Amino acid sequence: MPSLLPLARCLKLMEFLGFSLRNQLFVAPMAGVTDRPFRQLCKRMGAGLAVSEMVTSNSLLYGSVKTRRRADHEGEVAPIAVQIAGASPLMMADAARYNVDRGAQIIDINMGCPAKKVCNVMAGSALLRDEPLVGRILEAVTAAVPDTPVTLKIRTGWDAQQRNALRILKIAEQSGVRALAVHGRTRACGFRGQAEYDTIRSIKAVARIPVIANGDIDSPAKAKAVLESTGADALMIGRAAQGRPWLFREIEHFLNTGEHLPAPPVSEISAILLAHLEDLYAFYGLDAGVRVARKHVSWYTRGLPGSASFRSRMNQLLTAGDQRQAVRDFFSALAEDGGQLPVSGVPAEQFEELAA
Ligand SMILES: Cc1cc2nc3c(=O)[nH]c(=O)nc-3n(C[C@H](O)[C@H](O)[C@H](O)COP(=O)(O)O)c2cc1C
Repeated sequence: MPSLLPLARCLKLMEFLGFSLRNQLFVAPMAGVTDRPFRQLCKRMGAGLAVSEMVTSNSLLYGSVKTRRRADHEGEVAPIAVQIAGASPLMMADAARYNVDRGAQIIDINMGCPAKKVCNVMAGSALLRDEPLVGRILEAVTAAVPDTPVTLKIRTGWDAQQRNALRILKIAEQSGVRALAVHGRTRACGFRGQAEYDTIRSIKAVARIPVIANGDIDSPAKAKAVLESTGADALMIGRAAQGRPWLFREIEHFLNTGEHLPAPPVSEISAILLAHLEDLYAFYGLDAGVRVARKHVSWYTRGLPGSASFRSRMNQLLTAGDQRQAVRDFFSALAEDGGQLPVSGVPAEQFEELAA
């Protein structure tokens, strides 16, 4: 039997809220992206934890296909972390219980999302402007699921004049929240400018709970720099993992060895994408699966030679069979040409669309 020792040596397990994670690299919750197939894929490719897309706290929607799908964790590698969003302490408490009853092992509360759809109902990052309400929500949720760790995800504040992340940290600690993820931007920043890693560092410096740094981490070197400069306990990665789930193993390898893994060969990317498509078809059904698959295909192929015309062709294809064939043909042609991989993350405009 092959020895497991080399593997054990290269993996640094992280203890987090009573769970043993393979590392400190978390997949950021992204509505419309971090569905079960994507979370499973990222975990297979090296992520230590993946937070679900946000699930509404509006119980009227619990029966909707979208909400039921978001609460579906069948076969998912533990721990299962589910994000909830809303502004009513009572409804958030109910939502936490509902999701714990359906398998959630960590409840994450969204106070970071800038989407107008969410902020207009005083949820997501809009809550940061009402500190007493933040306290009431956090207390209601931690009391509703006393045996389940509750985590919080925030931005650094509403805008440059109201950067209150340190006060939110204190409220969170007093309410029994067990970890804080910070996207290093204010709500007003949208996705512009540089992430404020210095603010994250000042939060970490006084925090009694683990702090997770988030924002613009898109390479192994950046990950190392952010870990070192903020002193954070873990990193959360969003857009850069879209179409590039192997980023987690690249970062893990670099943090453990100081060496860069070579970019995955085109044949492996093709195999990863084809398997991802099968998971999407199985999870959403063929019709919806074909539609959801388009954006993932576009992320995987971004920056590759011929990708623009491939993507517009892809958007015309209506069946899973045609999509599979088109992906196979595109990557075989690329392999023959010795094609190169994209090296950077996903541009910020995408989030601007979400916030619009
Ligand atoms: C398409 C998209 C959807 C997002 N949805 C959520 C969400 O549902 N909940 C949340 O807390 N943050 C959400 N975010 C924010 C991310 O979790 C993360 O904080 C942000 O993208 C910054 O990290 P990054 O620079 O690694 O992408 C979303 C971001 C994107 C791009």
